[in-house]
Amino acid sequence: MKKDEMLYLRAARGEKFEKPPVWLMRQAGRYLPEYNLIRKKFSFLDVCNNPELACEVTMQPIRRFHFDASIMFSDILVPLVPMGAELSFGKGHGPVISNTIRSKSDVDKIKKIEPRESLKHVLESVKMMRAELPGDVALIGFAGAPFTLSSYWVEGGKPDPFANLKGMMYHQPETFINLLEKLGEMVVDYLSALVEAGADAIQLFDTWAGIMPVHEYRKFNLPVLKSIFSGLKHLGVPTTYYAKGSMHLLPEMKNTGADVIGLDWRSPLDEARVTLGAETVLQGNLDPTVLLGSEETIRRETRRILSEVNGSGGHIFNLGHGILPMTPISSVEILLDEIRGHSA
Ligand code: CP3
Repeated sequence: MKKDEMLYLRAARGEKFEKPPVWLMRQAGRYLPEYNLIRKKFSFLDVCNNPELACEVTMQPIRRFHFDASIMFSDILVPLVPMGAELSFGKGHGPVISNTIRSKSDVDKIKKIEPRESLKHVLESVKMMRAELPGDVALIGFAGAPFTLSSYWVEGGKPDPFANLKGMMYHQPETFINLLEKLGEMVVDYLSALVEAGADAIQLFDTWAGIMPVHEYRKFNLPVLKSIFSGLKHLGVPTTYYAKGSMHLLPEMKNTGADVIGLDWRSPLDEARVTLGAETVLQGNLDPTVLLGSEETIRRETRRILSEVNGSGGHIFNLGHGILPMTPISSVEILLDEIRGHSA
């Protein structure tokens, strides 16, 4: 199949389909027994850093479900390591960064990276993934948005309750802007290298953007997002921007320059369509928790989402956030059967 014919890429460019393409955020991961088997032998970062293993776990959900897109297996925090972050993933704790960023001198110490050197192993994985994937499955490369990356680095891990991050935003705005700009520069270089290595599309994850009030989003986040999406334009691949819990920011997201806007489960797709206009492709937005329920609920909620779009514009089916580790495989099969009429 020619690249232009891939369902995911056609939908991301605005074509409408009765049966939209579908993939799931965190589709490679702990709900898959074959993933857990690999994680018994190797740490999470080992899997991210080893091209054979990263490629293998990327392929696992495609073999089972033949999703329309595959997302490279890595983590948004991986590129922070060559920039100087001391990153670890404790058992059950999520990410920890031991050297936090709190001041101008911390920001000054952040290293500028050349991804083709320091992240060679990730680029190698992407090459392997593209070579192994079926011709009709698009490969998505991704990065964290600067605001979300900064939230982990400033807080030193799960950014809750965001006191240090918001403190920097309100009380050291120049330092904060400088931090976002450094991260933004990395994101453009890194994503460009991923596309060069074989990624067919790009997704930017801005998981925590929703904690910002609209005026702060406009002041701090929008400028760096605009520079990222305009810096990626020349690559000619479709781009997606995903932000969780961000309905109040939807009108601003239109100004990011992304082709596709990923929505979490809180935002009705028909309302988002009115705010974003027919030319913006929507991605989402089944609540991941629905997949823990009965077949009837899964089918009903899936149909509801499909009818909310109702041919009003481009749509890529996804969850509103990552698939939960306790999700039964059979739930994913039911979801796919409801969308496609078959599961693989
Ligand atoms: O979607 C995919 O299948 C591709 C791989 C992927 C992972 N993380 C693998 C992962 C992607 C795209 C991410 C993005 C990511 N990572 C985000 C943005 C999206 C989101 O979820 O909001 C964020 C905020 C992170 C940071 C991160 N990584 C956290 C907070 C955690 C711990 C939370 C958890 O679910 O345990 C991780 C770990 C992580 N990243 C796992 C996976 C498969 C679980 C690791 C394991 O096997 O133990």
